[in-house]
Amino acid sequence: MIDTHAHLDSFDDTKLKEVIKRAKDVKIEKIINPSAEPSNFERVLKIAEENDFIFAALGVHPEEVDKFEDDTLDEIRRLSENKKVVAIGEIGLDYYWTTDTKEKQKEIFSRQLELAKELKLPVIIHDREAHEDTYNLLKLADLGDIKVIMHCFSGSVEFMKQCTKEGWYIALGGVVTFKNAVKPKEVAKNVPSDKLLIETDCPYLAPVPYRGKENEPSYMLESAKCIAEIRGISLEELNKITTKNALEVFKL
Ligand code: NI
Repeated sequence: MIDTHAHLDSFDDTKLKEVIKRAKDVKIEKIINPSAEPSNFERVLKIAEENDFIFAALGVHPEEVDKFEDDTLDEIRRLSENKKVVAIGEIGLDYYWTTDTKEKQKEIFSRQLELAKELKLPVIIHDREAHEDTYNLLKLADLGDIKVIMHCFSGSVEFMKQCTKEGWYIALGGVVTFKNAVKPKEVAKNVPSDKLLIETDCPYLAPVPYRGKENEPSYMLESAKCIAEIRGISLEELNKITTKNALEVFKL
């Protein structure tokens, strides 16, 4: 299994060691650690450099746009020369908490998409309550063969189909296991096999039976079991499919 989205930098060094050990215990082969803002970049890279099986993504999250500085793109460009940087992310739009920064979010999202094109790196997309604008800006960016990962996908089956038609990937995590998560379960059932990815988004969104606790990569097993059951396939088959997809997307 590959956890395509884990904020490992949110754990302190002591906790991180335990978290990594438990991830290995359940056979998590690789982990992608996206950053949220420039002050994370250094630690995200350090963790990736210290651990063979951990990789980094660099980007500024839509809720952190006030931390985006004039030199942020240059910093990402420079740090991306490091081979452990495998994507730009997480980037995107979030209208759930605030719509005040809408215009700024769109501008910074588009500039980071341009950078991803320049660096030929896949993009990890955060889209919350902003499906239409996210879709339109991604289309406008004319990404060519740059891979797009719709992280923690929260749209309808219809929107999922719109995205996969573009060749974009759908990453699902703990939310699928929530009892009332009707829409995510429908999406989990219908995503084309070659576009499905799994993730934790830890330390957030722990799957049942850990719901409400601090999430970590080892808990991804619960989400994987749930998604396999929804799709009517074995856990082994699901792991095979999603691992293959993740290896391709991130060129690992
Ligand atoms: Ni995230």
